[in-house]
Amino acid sequence: MADSRPAIAPDREDEDAAPPVDGSRGPLVTGDPALPAEPGVDDALEVSPPATAHEEVLVLDFGGQYSQLIARRIRECGVYAELLPHDLDLDAIRERSPAALVLSGGPASVYSQDAPRLRTDLLDLGIPVLGICYGMQAMVLELAGKVEGADAGEFGRTALELVGDGGRLLAGLPPEQQCWMSHRDAVFEPPEGFTALASSPGSPVAALEDNERRLYGIQFHPEVVHTPYGQEILERFLTEIAGCDADWSPASVITEQVERVRAEVGDAGVLCGLSGGVDSATAAALVHRAVGDQLTCVLVDHGLMRLNEADQVVTAMEELGVNLIKVDAEARFLDKLAGVDDPERKRKIIGEEFIRVFEDEAAKLEGIGYLVQGTLYSDVIESGGDGRAADTIKSHHNVGGLPEDLGFDLVEPLRMLFKDEVRGVAAELGLSERVVWRQPFPGPGLAIRIVGGEVNRERLDILRGADAVLQEEIKAAGLYRDLWQSFCVLPVVRSVGVQGDGRTYAYPIVIRAVTSQDAMTADWARLPYDLLERVSNRIINEVASVNRVALDISSKPPATIEWE
Ligand code: XMP
Repeated sequence: MADSRPAIAPDREDEDAAPPVDGSRGPLVTGDPALPAEPGVDDALEVSPPATAHEEVLVLDFGGQYSQLIARRIRECGVYAELLPHDLDLDAIRERSPAALVLSGGPASVYSQDAPRLRTDLLDLGIPVLGICYGMQAMVLELAGKVEGADAGEFGRTALELVGDGGRLLAGLPPEQQCWMSHRDAVFEPPEGFTALASSPGSPVAALEDNERRLYGIQFHPEVVHTPYGQEILERFLTEIAGCDADWSPASVITEQVERVRAEVGDAGVLCGLSGGVDSATAAALVHRAVGDQLTCVLVDHGLMRLNEADQVVTAMEELGVNLIKVDAEARFLDKLAGVDDPERKRKIIGEEFIRVFEDEAAKLEGIGYLVQGTLYSDVIESGGDGRAADTIKSHHNVGGLPEDLGFDLVEPLRMLFKDEVRGVAAELGLSERVVWRQPFPGPGLAIRIVGGEVNRERLDILRGADAVLQEEIKAAGLYRDLWQSFCVLPVVRSVGVQGDGRTYAYPIVIRAVTSQDAMTADWARLPYDLLERVSNRIINEVASVNRVALDISSKPPATIEWE
């Protein structure tokens, strides 16, 4: 389990949907996600009624950088969790009667002027509470324990030592273990009624519990991979202490969402734009299960997709029996792109044209009342605040690439799911492996991989041919899922080569393969030499007009994943 957890930051897979509406690439994010400034603490998320009939845990967000990840880890334990603002109305909490509350980490010091306070009423609801990092300190402070600035903070991997048997929360775990810390203040004395369960060099009390009131706290972060027993501790809290059944799975969302969509949509027609990516395909499959033929999907084939990609979407939808209109708009797009080599102009043209084509198709259909959007839970969280999170986290965010003013109401069946959960739902709905595991692909497609010259059919075909070889070989080597993205780039320059007895003057192809957790930082993948050799030989032999293959060995930052 622990291995699947990202080391430092929540997954943030980039959109595999249509181009951003404003056509822009978005701000370049060059910060290390391990060290972001603490985001705002008073993000006023929309508080919707429970999205599940299952037991649920509410993670109250004090602004910590790992808050989303806490919710994801809890879900991985089989318990549905939502991230909500720390100042969520008490009545709203009572009404939802969660199985447990988790208080997230947060800004540097509980003593700083605008530090969010913990309302002690929360601790009197009779609901088990687990405070993590700042959440624990806030609890200790309000209950009159001793929290103080320590001589030195603890950041990163830290040794943790259990006190006695580790109490109910930590019993049975190794007496000495590693954990991941990120704090300056520390708890020096537990409040009355609490027992100290562990300590670390900089935290005299690194874990504590009051079993009578069912209040628990840990200074370290159980949600990150560097706390090897983190998931076990969360599981223990959820099942043994909070008594959760832990029978939730992403797939259980299907039944609930199908009913919800049915009730919402009634007899109206529903429209869905497909991009080829897993989000839009899953949203379409779910809505189709709910309302069948009332759903019409539109795939705008802008001619900038990879080899056979548009046909694969058609096949996937046909297999599910979904009504699909494929619009062959290649000529329209290439016409508009002629003579353009500036990346931002390309994006703008593609984004605008996409909307135009989609609107034309929508206008031909009758009785449409709803538009499906593949909005994910991370989008919901990130757009719920005051914009600060969006500034730092979202780089190329686009939710489906369509404006919301098409005159339809929105249906968002994936709104409560994280990206990796969407893949689970997709598999459960019978979508093919290819769709379920597709690497992210940018909305403007191959257009932003033809660099330094105009995008035209000839160059697209060269790039498509080379890319198909790369994809095939990477899949054959069993590496496809290990890579965040793998693709080819065509720089519009030519160099001299020799093939047979003749001199060639042809294009190079650059291989770009990266590993990443969230596209905010990335490293170039160390592909095996024999694989690279096969790819290079095949591309040069099989794709006319290519006489050289190069490998991009730059990380992000300072480079970006895409070349434009
Ligand atoms: P960069 O190149 O900034 O890319 O490291 C980060 C992630 O964003 C994707 N990307 C885009 N996605 N429209 C999209 O939908 C775009 O214009 C766009 N530009 C980059 C890129 O593939 C990577 O996953």
